[in-house]
Amino acid sequence: MQEFQTTQPLSNRAPLAEQPGVYSESAEWCGQPVFVKTLAADDPDSLARFQHEGRVAASLRHPLIVSPLAITPTQLIFPFVEGGTLRERLERGPLDEQQATEVASGVLCAVTYLHAQGVTHHDLKPENVMLLGGQPRWNNVRLIDFGMSHSRALPLDIHSGTRMGTPHFMAPEQFLGVRGDPRSDLYSVGVLLFDCLAGHPPYEDALGWLAGIRDRRAELPGPEPLHPLMRSALSRDRAQRPLSAAEMQHHLTSARLELNLPPLPLPTPDAAAAPATDTPA
Ligand SMILES: Nc1ncnc2c1ncn2[C@@H]1O[C@H](COP(=O)(O)OP(=O)(O)OP(=O)(O)O)[C@@H](O)[C@H]1O
Ligand SMILES: [Mg+2]
Repeated sequence: MQEFQTTQPLSNRAPLAEQPGVYSESAEWCGQPVFVKTLAADDPDSLARFQHEGRVAASLRHPLIVSPLAITPTQLIFPFVEGGTLRERLERGPLDEQQATEVASGVLCAVTYLHAQGVTHHDLKPENVMLLGGQPRWNNVRLIDFGMSHSRALPLDIHSGTRMGTPHFMAPEQFLGVRGDPRSDLYSVGVLLFDCLAGHPPYEDALGWLAGIRDRRAELPGPEPLHPLMRSALSRDRAQRPLSAAEMQHHLTSARLELNLPPLPLPTPDAAAAPATDTPA
């Protein structure tokens, strides 16, 4: 990762999206295809959040996480991931149990690493999971978007502001303004697995559920061996959720075994230092 004080020149620029204060585009930088976020606001709060996102992402090195190639005070330059997001894949229909558990395993693999680094993502959802080559395989998962994340190593408390996660994927404690923790991310992975299998998240009225007004959840999708795992991850009470991403991965592995699905050659949590490749599985 390189850090520059001056704005980096880009060629072949094509606009992708404009969020409040941040402009995204695809481009070429130093001869390679990149995805660039540029800060388009000049208030100190937006600047601090933007730079926080860059610092968190830059501190991570894991094959299933997209870290920046370079950062400047107003640009975050990432390798361009071809294949689209998990949300784009789900728009074409839900995944079967083999694919859904592979994607959840890939996400948990990245999240296990994150948590070991003292980072919580706080915005895990299909829009923030890319699938290299578009195929829902565990090793095609590429986790993005550290705009809501918290790092024990960095001073900015992202939870102190007014920005919120996405109601469908946000744990109830995050909605209630209690500081999220690793188990809040596990809740979101539970919603993500549910969404992959069902084609929609568990609560139609997500805000009603978060506020404690509604308790009715859509029936758990997919085969029965996956239900205890989803039920516990989706608990309102964090003490009822899996204790860690590694424990949740272990439950997922056992469920796949019960379903006669082949074991996945997941890397061990500490074998994380290899850089991401861009060849889809
Ligand atoms: N490295 C990448 N390569 C290709 N496309 C990407 C990359 N990173 C992000 N994208 C695309 O851009 C979208 C927005 O990126 P990101 O989630 O990082 O920004 P954001 O500020 O959270 O925007 P949003 O509010 O839309 O989620 C992603 O959902 C994805 O479609
Ligand atoms: Mg996003």
